[in-house]
Amino acid sequence: MDITIKIKNRKGELHEVKAPTDMSLNLMHIVRAYELEPNGTIGLCGGNAMCHTCQCYATNNVDLPEKKEAELATLSRLPNAKTNSRLSCQIPVTPALEGLEIEIAPLF
Ligand code: FES
Repeated sequence: MDITIKIKNRKGELHEVKAPTDMSLNLMHIVRAYELEPNGTIGLCGGNAMCHTCQCYATNNVDLPEKKEAELATLSRLPNAKTNSRLSCQIPVTPALEGLEIEIAPLF
């Protein structure tokens, strides 16, 4: 099944995209698949919660899975982290994300 997610990129463009829930993808993969950010500017650690290039802000009230230790550790080092920050590579695409809205955080 596909869910619909709204993603604002670093240029401020809002994209509404469909994301499949049955392909073991995460939100970082979706941003890359739709080329919402230029190559080489997102997902540089390959989805291991070790860089920060996939940081996003969750901007509506869709419930997200709890942060695990690696994500918490990386977020704690980011100067532009906010209370609604997440590493998009740590959020699997599941039916529970239907209607989610995120904004890709700026690089620094
Ligand atoms: S891709 Fe590096 S932290 Fe998510």
